Amino acid sequence: MRRGDHSGRLFALNQVIFLIENRWLLGLNRIQNTIKVRTITEEEFPAWERAAALGFGEHTTEARQLQIRGTTEIDRTIGAFDGDRVVGTTSAHTFTMSVPGGAVPLAYVDWVAVLPTHRRNGILTRMTKRQLSDFHERGEPLAGLTATESSIYERFGYGIASWIENWSIRREHTGMTGPASATVETRFVSPQEAREIGPVIYDRVRRERSGMFDYNGQWWDAFASDPEHWREGGSELFHVVHDGYGGPGGLVSYRIRDRSEVVVLLLLGATPKVESALWRHCFGIELMDSIVASSRPIDDPLPWMLTEPRRLERSVQDGLWLRLVDVQKALSSRSYASECRVVIQVHDPMCLWNEKRIEVETSPDGVSCKPTSRSPDLEISVSDLASIYLGGTTLSTLGRAGRIEEHTRGSLKTLDRAFATERFPWTVEF
Ligand SMILES: CC(C)(COP(=O)(O)OP(=O)(O)OC[C@H]1O[C@@H](n2cnc3c(N)ncnc32)[C@H](O)[C@@H]1OP(=O)(O)O)[C@@H](O)C(=O)NCCC(=O)NCCS
Repeated sequence: MRRGDHSGRLFALNQVIFLIENRWLLGLNRIQNTIKVRTITEEEFPAWERAAALGFGEHTTEARQLQIRGTTEIDRTIGAFDGDRVVGTTSAHTFTMSVPGGAVPLAYVDWVAVLPTHRRNGILTRMTKRQLSDFHERGEPLAGLTATESSIYERFGYGIASWIENWSIRREHTGMTGPASATVETRFVSPQEAREIGPVIYDRVRRERSGMFDYNGQWWDAFASDPEHWREGGSELFHVVHDGYGGPGGLVSYRIRDRSEVVVLLLLGATPKVESALWRHCFGIELMDSIVASSRPIDDPLPWMLTEPRRLERSVQDGLWLRLVDVQKALSSRSYASECRVVIQVHDPMCLWNEKRIEVETSPDGVSCKPTSRSPDLEISVSDLASIYLGGTTLSTLGRAGRIEEHTRGSLKTLDRAFATERFPWTVEF
């Protein structure tokens, strides 16, 4: 090879890249061919749960397995098997979720994990495809989840349907506007009492807020049992009930961390006044330096109740990721705020049954969503449709982000008026 002549080296380099790519592709095919994705059996649950824990970088215990088994539906629990070893996990819970004007069946996806030894081989993709067709066969119009990373789920047709806020405030800055109640309205209750009162208050809040699930008794049992693996070094839960309105009207559940921080896990009040009293309780716990609360709704009134709102440190994060499994059914299942008649072209390469033009017509009599051959007023991906479904954002915002193609001027605004909701959606997660 002459000095300065790189063609020989380039050829050699290309050969090496070719070999590496082929080895990688062969490796990928080998793994994909040997992995079986299927529903697990009852006997396989312990191994499945251990794999899920490993996928999240955790160890499991017998107590944790028992608690998780209580909220696991085995016939909706999927494993990816390499031989007889579980290397990938996912499951779904059967819920209904509050939507404007009612409630809709929703499959809530949980425990999504692939062992570090088997990642980036398409195992999640295979499990998700299988899950979505299963949801479709079961006639569930919606699926939902919360995501560890915000870059994973859009490719599967999920969209951000709600945003949440995480808060932190130092106790010396927790002055509140308005006078405190002259009478004592709050009392500590046992976990058993919280287990009784919690669902009643939750259901009252749920009637006025989209995005909330109908947690059954097993979920409330799990919440009240406050398993060790939920505590992350904090104390056991304290539960305080508010009794101002002729009976329990609010509940706050919190733990103390490092003897200096109040960690609010759940704060629900039937009215803003009740919520304000519960915050006062948390802010009034002496010897504490700060109060933190995660996953609060973005239209929570608390910042407006503080005398120093700037002192509330707020960070915003994606909340519920929603998937319209059956677009026509999902759109027909909620109510709308105004009349409209718009044709939308839905793009959904993963669930081809949704890939069609739908005429959405809303009127005081209800809603009609039917396939049409009329030319579309706008084109939208199934994930963006999920983002506007509960009123968590508007089409106009997505349009300004360059995500929607509007063919008929004004159709975005018309649909925005119809999809508008009084409150932002919020999901309380256990
Ligand atoms: C997230 C996880 C389940 C992905 O499993 P996987 O089998 O490696 O995923 P796949 O091979 O099917 O990847 C599908 C696509 O998602 C992408 N992807 C997967 N995990 C990702 C991550 N954490 N961040 C960004 N992109 C990711 C892949 O690059 C791939 O993209 P491509 O099709 O453009 O190449 C796995 O990394 C994991 O178990 N992580 C820890 C637990 C966790 O975060 N679970 C998610 C709970 S919501």
